[in-house]
Amino acid sequence: MMKKIACTALLSTLAFTWLGASAQQKGDAAKPRKISPDLFGIFFEDLSYAADGGLYAELIQNRSFEYSPADNRDWNSMTAWKYQTDGFGYGTISVETATPVHPNNPHYILLDIQDEGQKGVGLENSGFDGIPVKAGKNYNFSVFLNAISDQSLPVKVALVDRKGKELGSSSFTTSDKGWKKYAEQIHVNFDNDSAKLVLLFKAKGKIGIDMVSLCPEETFKNHNNGLRADLAQVIADIKPKFMRFPGGCLTHGDGVANIYRWKNTIGPVEQRVEQRNIWNYHQSVGLGYFEYFQFCEDIGAKPVPVLAAGVSCQNSGGTWKIGGTGQKGIPVEEMKAYVQDVLDLIEYANGPVTSTWGAKRAAAGHPAPFNLEYLGIGNEDKITGVFEERFRMIYDAVHKAHPEIKIIGTVGPSPKGEDFDKGWKLADQLSVGIVDEHYYEKPQWFLKNTQRYDAYNRLRSKVYIGEYASWGNTLFNALSEAVYMISLERNGDVVRMASYAPLIARIGHASWNPNLIYFNGTQVFPTVNYYVQQQFAVNSGNEYLPGVIKMKGEKTVLDTTAGVSTVRDSATGDLILKIANAGSVPVSGEADLSKIGQLPKSATLTVITGNPEVKNSTDNPQAIVPQSSVIKLQKKWAFTVPAYSLTVVRISSRSMEKHK
Ligand code: AHR
Repeated sequence: MMKKIACTALLSTLAFTWLGASAQQKGDAAKPRKISPDLFGIFFEDLSYAADGGLYAELIQNRSFEYSPADNRDWNSMTAWKYQTDGFGYGTISVETATPVHPNNPHYILLDIQDEGQKGVGLENSGFDGIPVKAGKNYNFSVFLNAISDQSLPVKVALVDRKGKELGSSSFTTSDKGWKKYAEQIHVNFDNDSAKLVLLFKAKGKIGIDMVSLCPEETFKNHNNGLRADLAQVIADIKPKFMRFPGGCLTHGDGVANIYRWKNTIGPVEQRVEQRNIWNYHQSVGLGYFEYFQFCEDIGAKPVPVLAAGVSCQNSGGTWKIGGTGQKGIPVEEMKAYVQDVLDLIEYANGPVTSTWGAKRAAAGHPAPFNLEYLGIGNEDKITGVFEERFRMIYDAVHKAHPEIKIIGTVGPSPKGEDFDKGWKLADQLSVGIVDEHYYEKPQWFLKNTQRYDAYNRLRSKVYIGEYASWGNTLFNALSEAVYMISLERNGDVVRMASYAPLIARIGHASWNPNLIYFNGTQVFPTVNYYVQQQFAVNSGNEYLPGVIKMKGEKTVLDTTAGVSTVRDSATGDLILKIANAGSVPVSGEADLSKIGQLPKSATLTVITGNPEVKNSTDNPQAIVPQSSVIKLQKKWAFTVPAYSLTVVRISSRSMEKHK
C-alpha cells in the first residue's frame, strides 16, 4: 500500500512537473511577453591588436621593453625600437633587469653614453605600423628615467617623419638620481600617419629608460591612460546594452600560467604584470580591468567580465589542430586563492570604498561602484572532471557570498555536441542562471536555425549567446544574422543576452576573420554586420508583441529567409517594428497597429539593403550603410520590403503625444 501511494505521488509529481514544464517549456508565441532588457551587447577580446595597438590609446609599441620570444618567436625587448646614434655619438646599450622600476616590470634599457655626438644618443620607436599624429594636436609623453651618473642629462623627445623631419618636440633635463617619471606635452605641427618617436640624451652619462609612453591628449571622454577616441566612439555608437571582456580564449589562456588574472591588470601601469597574448603577441594590460569597467560605464553598457573557470584553454600548447587536449587545471591547493580572486573582483567592482578592493577602485579615481551584475565563469571550456571540479568551487563560493550576481556558465565552443550537452547538464544540476553558447557558422545555418530557441525549456537556465557570427562580412552574412536576431527578440524571455564576435581587428594583424569593425592607425571601418548589430541594439525593447506584423507569401520559404518582430521599449514608450529579409525576392505584408493605441502621423524608417555579395571595404567603406527617412503611418501599414534588406520602423511615443 505504502508503495502504491508513493508511486501515485511520484507519478502525479512527474505529471505535474511535466505539465508545468510543457506549459512553460516553449514561449507562448501568441502572447505579449517581457523580454530581456539586456539582449544586444558587444564582445571585446584583446585579439587582432584590439587592445594594444587598438582601442588602448598608447602609441608606443613595446613601451616597457617586455616583448619577448615567448610572445612571438621573432620578438625581444628591442622590438619596435632602434638604437639612435644618427649624430655620430656612441656608447653602449643593453637590456637590464637588475634594478627595475618595479619587479612586475623587469626589463629596462641601460644607455652608457660615451660621446653624445652632434644630436645625442638614444632610442627610436616606430609605434604600431607607425605613429599617427595630427597637426594642431597635443600628445602626452612620459618616461621613467633612472639617472645613474652624477650630472643631470639634457633630454630631447621628438616626433619625426620617415625622412627625419621634426613634427613636434619637447626638451627637459633629468633631475635626481634613481627612477623618476618625467612628463612632457608635444605639440605637433604637421599631419603624419607613420611618425616615429625619438628620445635623445645630449650629454655623456649612464641612464636607465623604461615605460616610454605617448598618448593623444584627446582620448575617449578624455581619461588619463585612456582609449582611442574615434574607435571608442564607433563602438559606443552601437549603444550596446552590455560589454563582455576580456575574451574569449584570452581569458582562460595558453596554459595555467597564461590565465588572465584581473589583479595583474589594475593599479599604476608600470606595476601591472604584462604577459603573452594567446593570439601570439603581447598584452601590456595598460587597458586593464579598471579601464574596461570605466569604458562600460562611459558607453552605458553593463560590464560582463569573464574569468577563467580555474582551467586553461583546451587548445593550450598548440593543440588546436588535434582537437584540443591541452586543458590544465590550477592545482587544487591553489584554488582557494583563485576563488578569493573571483570574490575580490566583485568587491573591486561593487564594494564600498572602505573595503580592501573597493578602496583600490577609489584610488584609481572611481569611488562609486561599477554596478557589476553579471559574471562569466569559463569560456567555451572542454567539460572535463578537472573543469567541473573547479567550476563548482567558484560557482558555490560566488553564489553563496553574492546571490545578487548573475553567474554565466559555459557550454563549450559549438551549438551542439559533447561539451554542449555536458555543460547544460552541469548547469541543470547547479541551476546556473545563464549559460554561454557560442557558434560561428555559415549564413545558411543561421537561416535554418531561427527556431532554435522557440523550443528551449523556459524552466532551465537562460542563455547568453556570448559569441556568434556567420562566416563573412557581406550584406548576405549580415542579413542572415539579422533574421536570426529577430528570432532572438522573439525568444528574449529565454535568450538574455547576445554578442557578435569578435568586435574589432587591426588591418594587417587580424588573427580572426570576420570581425565587426576593422581599423588602422587613423581610420575605422564598420562592416555591414556592424550596422545590423547597431540597428538591433539601438532599437531594442523589453516587451515582445507577437502578431502585429504579418508577412504574405509562402510561409515555408519566408520562414527560412525572412523574419519579423515588434517590440516596445518601456523606457521611451517607443514601438519598433523590424522586418529582415535575406531572400532574393521582396517581402510584403501588413502591420496592424490598430490595437496599439494613439498613433503618431509618421515614423522613422531605416533600411539596410544592397547587393548581397557586397561588403564595406577600405576602398568603399560606405558601400552599404543604413538609410533613414520619415514615413506616414496608418493603422494598417502595408509594406513591401526589398530583397536582401533589413527594415526598422521606429514609432516614437513622443510624436504620439504631439498628435493627441
Ligand atoms: O572570437 C574569437 C575566438 O573564438 C574566441 O577567443 C574564442 O572564445 C572562440 O573560439
